[in-house]
Amino acid sequence: MTLPTSVLPGAALALVLSMAPHSPVRAEALTPPPIALSCAGCHGPNGAGEGSVPRIAGYDRQAFVQTWAAFRANERPATIMNRVARGFTDAEVAQLADYFATVR
Ligand code: HEC
Repeated sequence: MTLPTSVLPGAALALVLSMAPHSPVRAEALTPPPIALSCAGCHGPNGAGEGSVPRIAGYDRQAFVQTWAAFRANERPATIMNRVARGFTDAEVAQLADYFATVR
């Protein structure tokens, strides 16, 4: 038996649309905190990565905080981030970690 393939895709789409929730399924990315704008010059818009500068969008929150502490303590090889890291308070780092963990 063959299915009426010319009808089925439309019917399936209509079904999916009718089942779609009215609110977004996934949480929206946070609004960038103003301090995150200083990262964009090197890491690209929303931390997407640019040239040899690594992507930080979607960075795991806990890993972010650990990486940051390692930069600060000069325990992680860095050309610049060790110096950048010292310019932010723990509260600001928490804000940055929250934000970059939510961007894709
Ligand atoms: C002057 C350029 C510059 C600025 C500004 C900058 N970064 Fe970086 N970042 C780098 C570079 C280059 C690296 C790679 C490590 C290194 O060489 O220092 C890096 C690495 C990182 C890493 C580690 C990525 C990995 O591969 O694990 C994180 C996290 C990070 N940056 C976050 C930030 C955040 C958040 C800001 C803004 C507060 C920021 N950076 C601002 C240049 C920059």
